[in-house]
Amino acid sequence: MRNYYIAGNWKMHKTRAEAAALAGELVSGLKDGKHKYLVAPSFTLLETVAPLVKGTNIRLGAQNMAAEEQGAHTGETSVLQLKDLGVQTVILGHSERRHLYKEDDALINKKVKLALQHGLEAILCIGELLEEREAGKAEAVCERQTVKGLEGIPASSLSGIVLAYEPVWAIGTGKTATPEDADAIHACVRNVIAKLYGQAEADKIIIQYGGSVKADNAARLMSKENIDGALVGGAALKAESFVPIAKFG
Ligand code: PGA
Repeated sequence: MRNYYIAGNWKMHKTRAEAAALAGELVSGLKDGKHKYLVAPSFTLLETVAPLVKGTNIRLGAQNMAAEEQGAHTGETSVLQLKDLGVQTVILGHSERRHLYKEDDALINKKVKLALQHGLEAILCIGELLEEREAGKAEAVCERQTVKGLEGIPASSLSGIVLAYEPVWAIGTGKTATPEDADAIHACVRNVIAKLYGQAEADKIIIQYGGSVKADNAARLMSKENIDGALVGGAALKAESFVPIAKFG
C-alpha cells in the first residue's frame, strides 16, 4: 500500500517573511492531513522555514544541491549545509535544472547518489519535452532518465527515492496531462523499476505527477492506479490553493 505524497516546490519565490507566513498557514492547514507532505523553499529560506515545520507532518526539502560534498564550487550548496539546516529531502533533476541550467543525466545521478549517501530522500524528476511527446518518444525519454538517474543505486537504497513525472510542456503552462496519459507514463516507469529492481520494489516506489496540478484536477489524477502524489509548483505558493490539493480525497 503506497501513501500519497504531496510536495510543494516554491521555486524562486518569496521573502523570509512571506515564507514564514505560508509555512505557518500550511502547518495549521495540514495538521489533520492524512498524506505525506513536503515544502521545498529556496536555499535562503530554509533556515526560516525549518523551525516552523520541525516536528509537524510537513518535511523540509531543498530544490537542488551540488554534486560534490564541499570544496571550491562558487555559487553551489552542499549536502552538508542542507543537512545542517534540517533538510530531509532534495528535489533533483527538475526540468528547469535540466533545460535552463543544462544538468544532464550523469550529473543528476551523481547528486542522487550523494543525497542517499547522506541519508537524504531524493525526489528524482523526469519528463519529456513537447517535441519528444509529439515524436512518440515520451516513454523512451522517461525510461532513459529513470535508468540513468538511478545508475549504481542498489535496491537497498531505493526506499530513499521518490520519482516525479513532470511532462515539461505541462509545467507552469496551465496544461495538465490527462490522468490517463499521466498514468500510462507512470505505469511505464514502474515497469522500468520492476525490470531494474524486481516487482516488489516497483510496487512500493512512490511516483508523483507534476505539471499544473490544481485543486480541481488533483483528485482525478491521484485516483489513477500509478499516480501516488503530486509535485506542485504554482499552486503551492498559497495555502488556499495548496491545502485543498494536499487534503484531496
Ligand atoms: P506547476 O510546477 O505546478 O507550476 O506546473 C510543477 C513543478 O515544476 O514542480
